[in-house]
Amino acid sequence: MTTISTALPSGRLLEDSKDFLKKIGINVKEPANRELISYENGYTFYFPRAFDVPVYVENGVDIGICGSDVVLERNNEVYIPLELPFGKCRMSIILPENREISFQKMEGYKIATKYPEITKNFFSEKGLKVKILKLNGAVELAAKTGIADAIVDIVDTGNTIKANNLKEAYKIMDISAVLLVNRITQKTKFDFINDLINKAKNYKNGVK
Ligand code: PRP
Ligand code: MG
Repeated sequence: MTTISTALPSGRLLEDSKDFLKKIGINVKEPANRELISYENGYTFYFPRAFDVPVYVENGVDIGICGSDVVLERNNEVYIPLELPFGKCRMSIILPENREISFQKMEGYKIATKYPEITKNFFSEKGLKVKILKLNGAVELAAKTGIADAIVDIVDTGNTIKANNLKEAYKIMDISAVLLVNRITQKTKFDFINDLINKAKNYKNGVK
């Protein structure tokens, strides 16, 4: 039997990832207390931080699931055969509620974000220089306290920005969960990967 290693994102995408895999015939086992690996039916499941899933897949883990935001930010060498029908949200520029300014006028702005690469690329493509303040989470606090002029972050329901008196000023991109495949696995376990992609596509078409 082919054994397959799978990197799953800890955090808010985990439940949807497990549900999706179940629907295509892969049962994920919860790891035991504080453990970061589980084994089930020829599968090994790894539970890294969501931000590190592409790093695992680039470095030898067969497949993984994470958000397209993470893939763009990390820029690892992985094969992304398809978007998955969950984890839909957006990456936006967010401002204090009372600030009126278009992103074209943000030259010199200090922008806090967990996504320095995406932020840098967005503004430099528009020909604008901004200062980037890299934070590791709860980024809304930087705009709320005023340590940054704006933030670039994920918006899903919009509850977090609303609760912090912020507003979504400009959508940079739509985000979705994606399937990741290791470049070598893509060739050496071709039949398995092909079958997995077909099942995932069928599932995706079914939920549309
Ligand atoms: C994410 C994101 C936003 C929030 C968006 O943060 O960074 O803060 O969720 O969701 P909403 O629009 O439904 O409120 P998360 O709670 O994952 O943690 P982190 O920012 O501290 O990493
Ligand atoms: Mg947050």
